[in-house]
Amino acid sequence: MFITFEGIEGCGKSTQAKKLKEFLEQKNYSVLLTREPGGSKLGTTLRKILLSMENQDITKETELFLYLADRSQHVHTIIKPALKENKVVISDRYIDSTVVYQGYGRDIDPNVIHLLNELATNKLCPDLTILLDLPVEIGLKRALARNLNNKTAREEGRFEAESLEFHTKIREGYLTWAALNKDRIVVINGENSPEQVFQEILLALKNRLEI
Ligand code: TMP
Repeated sequence: MFITFEGIEGCGKSTQAKKLKEFLEQKNYSVLLTREPGGSKLGTTLRKILLSMENQDITKETELFLYLADRSQHVHTIIKPALKENKVVISDRYIDSTVVYQGYGRDIDPNVIHLLNELATNKLCPDLTILLDLPVEIGLKRALARNLNNKTAREEGRFEAESLEFHTKIREGYLTWAALNKDRIVVINGENSPEQVFQEILLALKNRLEI
């Protein structure tokens, strides 16, 4: 079982992914919680490059190929082996992030990105994707506060520093892409309380996993 979480910055997906891991472990599932970028050994270095404020001049194509490189390495060295061991794999971001950020966000054809994703992952598609949707202003406020607390703004702030217009494109891109992939992507209102959001995630999972 392969589950992914998606959404704009500060949507709460990392918190919910962690909560889901703990819940499933209590139900005796063996769970791997991972993330993109940065889920593999090589990915740790790629994450630093991709998110650093030092790399503001990175071209959109370079950015795209680095995310795909991170994904390919992640799928082949971490995700597939875990699925083979019958683990439930939960990834904080995956293929849809590239379609939305580099596609809808940076104006690269989303269909081309879809094909490149298939190449990078050998067509490994999640069984379920949870999209946490909320207004951009709320998400960004949360993300910026978190970065200030963790002092990671310089290290990981490249996307948070993008304009409100960019983030609005991302939110809308996610909703458009979700509507095109209704069987897989479940949209949940991220403005609700964390407990309410979690209950909705469990509801979405119930049709697919014995819990
Ligand atoms: P995170 O803050 O959720 O860890 O994500 C890191 C940033 O990377 C986030 O701003 C979205 C961006 N991103 C892309 O632009 N394309 C991708 O394919 C992925 C996985 C992330």
